[in-house]
Amino acid sequence: MRVCIFGTGYVGLVTGTCLAEVGHEVLCIDVDAAKVEALNRGVVPIFEPGLAPMVASNRAEGRLRFSTDASAGIAHGEILFIAVGTPPDEDGSADLKYVLAVAATIGQHLQRPAVVVDKSTVPVGTADKVAAKIAEALAARGARIAFDVVSNPEFLKEGAAVEDCLRPDRIVIGTDSSAALETMKRLYAPFNRNHERIVAMDVRSAELTKYAANAMLATKISFMNEISRIAEEVGADVELVRKGIGSDPRIGWRFIYPGAGYGGSCFPKDVQALAKTALQHGVRTRLLDAVEAVNDAQKSHLFELMVRHYGSVSAIRGKTIALWGLAFKPDTDDMREASSQRLLDQLWDAGARVRAFDPEALGEAKRIYGERADLALCGSSAETLEAADTLVVITEWKQFRSPDFAALKQSLTDAVLFDGRNLYEPAEVEAAGLAYYGIGRGRSVRRA
Ligand SMILES: NC(=O)c1ccc[n+]([C@@H]2O[C@H](COP(=O)([O-])OP(=O)(O)OC[C@H]3O[C@@H](n4cnc5c(N)ncnc54)[C@H](O)[C@@H]3O)[C@@H](O)[C@H]2O)c1
Repeated sequence: MRVCIFGTGYVGLVTGTCLAEVGHEVLCIDVDAAKVEALNRGVVPIFEPGLAPMVASNRAEGRLRFSTDASAGIAHGEILFIAVGTPPDEDGSADLKYVLAVAATIGQHLQRPAVVVDKSTVPVGTADKVAAKIAEALAARGARIAFDVVSNPEFLKEGAAVEDCLRPDRIVIGTDSSAALETMKRLYAPFNRNHERIVAMDVRSAELTKYAANAMLATKISFMNEISRIAEEVGADVELVRKGIGSDPRIGWRFIYPGAGYGGSCFPKDVQALAKTALQHGVRTRLLDAVEAVNDAQKSHLFELMVRHYGSVSAIRGKTIALWGLAFKPDTDDMREASSQRLLDQLWDAGARVRAFDPEALGEAKRIYGERADLALCGSSAETLEAADTLVVITEWKQFRSPDFAALKQSLTDAVLFDGRNLYEPAEVEAAGLAYYGIGRGRSVRRA
């Protein structure tokens, strides 16, 4: 089928590439000319495991193309995906200006019937707004062309986006049009050979499903982070508690890791946007507000542990901190809302210098922070340790999981390790002569 995708970010590029991979003819449109030019040179602007070779092979076979020419994209696609950003507005609601700009463009250029698909994460009621925008632009031209607007939210995880897209848990399709549903079923048929993954529903339920999924996942994380705070104070180890509850199949093992708070482009903004939608409809969201507040506090907790260790904020002045990890999670270069950003600001405010390493996010860190005297972006985790006083681990990349603790003890002047993702066994770290601080590991706090 002929598919046009607006937006070549994490979602649009991965979706377009995976649709091309199963045989569809995909034309991706982006307003960012530099990004399109890079993609046309074969340069993939984001890091996502498995993506670059798949882009290359589908480009080579002519099924995947990139352009800034929106009218060409609309002429090409029988299905038009909107996969542009929906960043938070000043009041926390989702800013729909990019989505509605694409809708207006579609209305200006549409020549024959098409299915328009909201792939971006958008508040309940957005499909109606997109339809109205397209209709308005069509009317301005005096054109009468039929179209449907379908909600097809995306559930991929950054770091596993290609795999998630090729083998989705479910494909949610929200539409009241049986013809549009049939078109979407044909599009996704190659992904459904093993078993039916499509969950069809009305548009508003589909729009809400996406927010409900992210809010539930964020809730699990904030719940565990709250338990970790209790564990810390009562002298329990939250890692043992986690194992003790995860074995209950009603709770499960996944997404109950305490840590330095969730970040990324989705959970923070989606929890806030859902709360905002609820408020607009007169529903108070006590739970969502708490999920957000717990996370916000958790992002500051590593710094609080450092202050606890050193005795005061002023004692951190002049320290050199080795920082392992910058991305909001492993296997991505994405630093949006990353906990590392909060910690960096706090360390700099306190007068510390940082030597940071991340396997993929150094370029992004350079883009965000530029050159500054109190930040050294290092080429390896070992390089961060040169003349460092202390080590903080904030992203759980696999390569950080088994360091040589004796060598760390030799390198770190203050012989202390802050483990923002509970990667290490406290006893093992302490046996090497290092002080250890994890998240919710009460023993180490009591000893300190
Ligand atoms: N990143 C994720 O893991 C993820 C997962 C599921 C859903 N989502 C949702 O998907 C949407 C996109 O997220 P993302 O992370 O891919 O965003 P992104 O910021 O990485 O990419 C958005 C792209 O859209 C382009 N764009 C903006 N206006 C445009 C226009 N008028 N025409 C064409 N292109 C335009 C931008 O230049 C950019 O390249 C958001 O609503 C997000 O909440 C994201």
